[in-house]
Amino acid sequence: MNKPTFYVTTPIYYVNDIPHIGHAYTTVASDVICRYKRLSGYDVFFLTGTDEHGQKIEQAAEKQNITPKQLADRVVERFKSLWIKLNISYDKFIRTTDEYHKKCVQHIFSKMLENGDVYIDEYEGWYCTPCETYWTETQLLDGNCCPSCRRETNRLKEPSYFFKMSKYQDKLLEHIEKNPDFIKPASRRNEIISFIKEGLRDLSVSRVSFKWGIPVPENKKHVIYVWIDALTNYISALGYPNEDDLFGKFWPANYHIVGKDILRFHTVYWPTMLMSIGLPLPKSVFAHGWWTVEGQKMSKSLGNAIDPNWLVDKFGVDQIRYFLLREVPFGLDGDFSFKALIHRINGDLSNDLGNLLNRTLGMVGRYFDGVVPPYTVNDESDDKIADQIISTFHEIDSHLNELSFNKALGSIWELVGALNRYIDFSAPWNLAKDPSKRDRLGSVLYTVLDGIRVLSLMIYPFMPETAVEIRKQINTKRDIYKSTFDDLCKVRVLESGQKIGEVKQLFPRVDEAAFNLEITKHEVNTKQEEQIEYEYFSKMSIRAGKIISAEKVEKSEKLLKLKVDLGDWTRQIIAGVGKSYTPDELVGKTVAVVANLKPAKLMGQVSEGMILAATVGEGHKIVELPDTVAPGSVIK
Ligand code: MSP
Repeated sequence: MNKPTFYVTTPIYYVNDIPHIGHAYTTVASDVICRYKRLSGYDVFFLTGTDEHGQKIEQAAEKQNITPKQLADRVVERFKSLWIKLNISYDKFIRTTDEYHKKCVQHIFSKMLENGDVYIDEYEGWYCTPCETYWTETQLLDGNCCPSCRRETNRLKEPSYFFKMSKYQDKLLEHIEKNPDFIKPASRRNEIISFIKEGLRDLSVSRVSFKWGIPVPENKKHVIYVWIDALTNYISALGYPNEDDLFGKFWPANYHIVGKDILRFHTVYWPTMLMSIGLPLPKSVFAHGWWTVEGQKMSKSLGNAIDPNWLVDKFGVDQIRYFLLREVPFGLDGDFSFKALIHRINGDLSNDLGNLLNRTLGMVGRYFDGVVPPYTVNDESDDKIADQIISTFHEIDSHLNELSFNKALGSIWELVGALNRYIDFSAPWNLAKDPSKRDRLGSVLYTVLDGIRVLSLMIYPFMPETAVEIRKQINTKRDIYKSTFDDLCKVRVLESGQKIGEVKQLFPRVDEAAFNLEITKHEVNTKQEEQIEYEYFSKMSIRAGKIISAEKVEKSEKLLKLKVDLGDWTRQIIAGVGKSYTPDELVGKTVAVVANLKPAKLMGQVSEGMILAATVGEGHKIVELPDTVAPGSVIK
């Protein structure tokens, strides 16, 4: 039998942005629903990617003296590596500079032109380049500032193609009214309905003032508006205009998951485009809220972004995934605080879940020599646990289908609490004192272990690494990726007789006071670090050099006089590494040299460059290169 399908998308992120937890939030949430659907038997397609065209990328590349594509190639890894770090299980990563995508966008544009939904005229309005959005006079803030990012907008007047969005106003309203799930949550739906009722205007869908975009096939002076380009990714990634294969299987999408700031593009522009080319609309667009820091939206321009890489390194990937989805109802705004994060880690994760596993495995070790006992003696309290397990599965299913991640986690943690209370109530430590109750003791521990097995399935979408670790510790080989939801819900199916795995703490407690101290230092460090333009950096010539001789500089404890072969000529470099290296140790090493530093005199000796070294305590460690790197090789 064919599995049911499920298609989820994140927005495609502006490739030039530095990913922050706002981006991580959308992507982790999408990952959770995808992992959950796979677990309960669906054939899932999960799409993410990068948005790479537009004026702001063109301008950024120009500043760095490279092409926009070179810039995009250079920075796209920032997203890809973050998704690896966050365990994002996407099926496809689309880049809008991919050839198939460009062809698809042009195909759609031509189709709309052919059917008369696109016409040429002249556009005049206020344009925000960073947001790639036109605003009307009345939407502007403080004179001519963008209502979204608050930066200055520019007045633009240019020939432009227009899309007859107004033509689809009534049809769109009707669709939204007939399909309550099309826009979620309901508050956002009402907002969009009022917006449409104010009257849709035709949309300017091409630009002539810059080049970095997909050309209009019929008129190459124009590039296609970035939002038309970007939105099309949801179907180009499936191979459209080829309607067989992935497109036939997965379109219409089950969920476009987006932040509230880009809801209008997804629920007005996108559906009207789809109507124009005669394709079905996505089933649901869900707008989540914003993460703020001290009440302000997080963004590069405001300088308050929290780096998710740093957070994961500091606290652990599952801790961050859990926190993002537990702390704030999906759909509402949330304010980021370390206090709340640490509270969740130490409370929910370490005390409640971590301790449940630890105490149970401890007792299996103590009373059964680490071997999982069989279930033989029933008690009413075991059946209550079994009932709660089944009802929790059903609650999770309905919460996750509504993307109520925090409610699903709430239900799971009620089960964690119930299992902890079940242990207290059954008091295995008392049963252990009476040899006639040994079978019941085994059944109690089995019930908890089977409950923990179930918990590992329930938390898997949120915390995949922890789920796998728990399963290693209870040593089950069963049931990850069941074929149906009903299979998922089975209880008392844990194997018995196997030895438990190595017992490890799941979530180390975080020392809040020590962390607060560290964060103050971290803030100070990052604030002091002045940022430089790429241009500055690119002026620096760093090259490989081979040290051919070394001697101490007279009367100096730390200066060494080196002769370094840089491929062209041999330099004299005075290096302050004499406390960490003897001259002999350095001869023959290939090192990194700043080659175009202006010569300077140190203790009367000319120095024609600098050797790169890390400061380690009071001393240094030089940056060494393998001796296969030829002297003079450029380092960038
Ligand atoms: N490139 C467009 C999307 C095109 S989709 C066809 C874009 N990119 S973005 O990188 O600026 O934003 C991507 C997503 O991150 C959006 O859903 C946005 O709402 C989300 N977030 C950006 N900052 C955010 C927070 N501070 N908090 C939560 N999410 C936010 O828009």
